Order: sequence, then structure tokens, then C-alpha cells
Amino acid sequence: MRTILTADRDAMGRWVAEAAAADLRQAIQANGKANLVVATGSSQFEVLGELVKQPDIEWSRVHGFHLDEYVGISSQHPASFCKYLKERFVDHVPLASFEYLQGDRDPAETINRAAALLANSPIDLALVGIGENGHLAFNDPPADFSTEQPYLLVELDEPCRQQQVGEGWFASLEDVPTHAISMSVRQILKAAKIYCSVPDQRKAAAVQATLEDDVSPQVPASILREHPQATLVIDAAAASKLSAATLSALERVQ
Ligand code: GLP
Repeated sequence: MRTILTADRDAMGRWVAEAAAADLRQAIQANGKANLVVATGSSQFEVLGELVKQPDIEWSRVHGFHLDEYVGISSQHPASFCKYLKERFVDHVPLASFEYLQGDRDPAETINRAAALLANSPIDLALVGIGENGHLAFNDPPADFSTEQPYLLVELDEPCRQQQVGEGWFASLEDVPTHAISMSVRQILKAAKIYCSVPDQRKAAAVQATLEDDVSPQVPASILREHPQATLVIDAAAASKLSAATLSALERVQ
């Protein structure tokens, strides 16, 4: 895994969007199409905001896939990831297709449908983030590093649910759904390239564990270190708990 340190979250978003755009152009040139996984959450605000402005991407050849969604909320709910992705990505670019995970449908049916599509859609590029608890998508610790099922019905742990209240998506912990549909760790790792964007002081402990602890289901994002084409992109605040040795090894961009 490559790790890049940017000055702030705007620089992080620009760097990831430019790199992702280059990968999308290359995949389209090589295969006539590109399969892209997109995430949500505050970490993706700048990434998606910049990605939709990138030039010379034949969006009509890009198929979009949805990383995770709460179970039991509709696409009208302010915290819905369907709503988030529609407003911040899908409405801005003329995609060939976008496969939403719809939170108010039967989870088993949604999982089966998305899994069947993925079986014939090798992913070129996945844009992901990590949670305050180190989760990758909604794979909270201890994450299942072995299941080959593409999407899982998962129970959300309290730190994860508390983060959503802290970010203002829900009024109280009781309002946060207890379950979600999440792309599995193994499925995320099948992407040819992965960009993991992590800004903010709130993520400093998770970033430290991801880079400095052992690779372990207790730190789900640590598995990215085993992917040859994964890039972790952090800002200065998210890097604030790293050791001097780790910091000195990071690539720095403006
Ligand atoms: C969130 C979402 C993911 C996202 C990750 C980081 O809870 N389930 O789609 O990649 O966890 O999100 P955030 O940027 O809000 O910390």
C-alpha cells in the first residue's frame, strides 16, 4: 500500500479525484468501460466534488456500484447513502448505470441482486474511507476477512453508530439503524485499484492503527496494506498521531 500525506482535506480530494480520473480513462481505453465503486460519508465530500469536475472522462462508459447502505431507511432520509450518492455523484455525470443498494427493500433481495451483478463486473477502481473505529465500508471490528460473499448484512457497533450522530446525520443513537448492507472486505480487495481517503483529526487514532498496528480484523482498514494497488490518502490532521518513523516514510503532495 502506498500512503500519501496532503496538507488538508481539499488537497486530499483533488489528489484522489485526479488519480481516479486517470484510472477511469485508462480502464475505458483498455476495456471500453470502467466499473467504479463509490463510498459515502464525510470523507468523500471533497473526493466526489472534485471527481465530477474532472475532464475527458467518458462517463457513459462508467458503471457505478454502491459500497454500503443502512437497512431500514428510505432514499428520502437525510442520512440515506442513496440520497447522498444521487445528489453528490449520480446526478452530476451521465453514467452508463448505477446500482443502488436500497435500504428500504428486503436486504436479502438487495444483496443477491448486487452480488449477481458484481459477479460479472470486475471492479477497476474503489473509492473508500475508514471510520473512526477503523471500519472499511460497514465492516466494523472484528471484520470478517475471509468470507467471499460480495455483500453482507452486518450489525453496526456502537462507536460506528455514535460517529453518525456526531457527524449530524441522525439526531440520536436510537435513530441510527442497527444493521446495514456492506460490501465485504474480500470484495473490496478484489478491486484492481483502491483509493482510501481519510481526512480529519477524528480519524487520527484509526489511521495510526491502520498503519502501525498488526494487520488484523480488529483494525479492518489494516488489510489494505496487503493490496498491491491500494493508496491511503490522509490529511495532516488525520496523520497527527503517527510516529516520527511512519511520518518520515510518507509521500507528501501539496
Ligand atoms: C461510513 C460509510 C462508508 C465510508 C466510511 C467512512 O460510515 N459506511 O461508506 O467509506 O464509513 O465514512 P466517514 O467518512 O463518514 O467516516
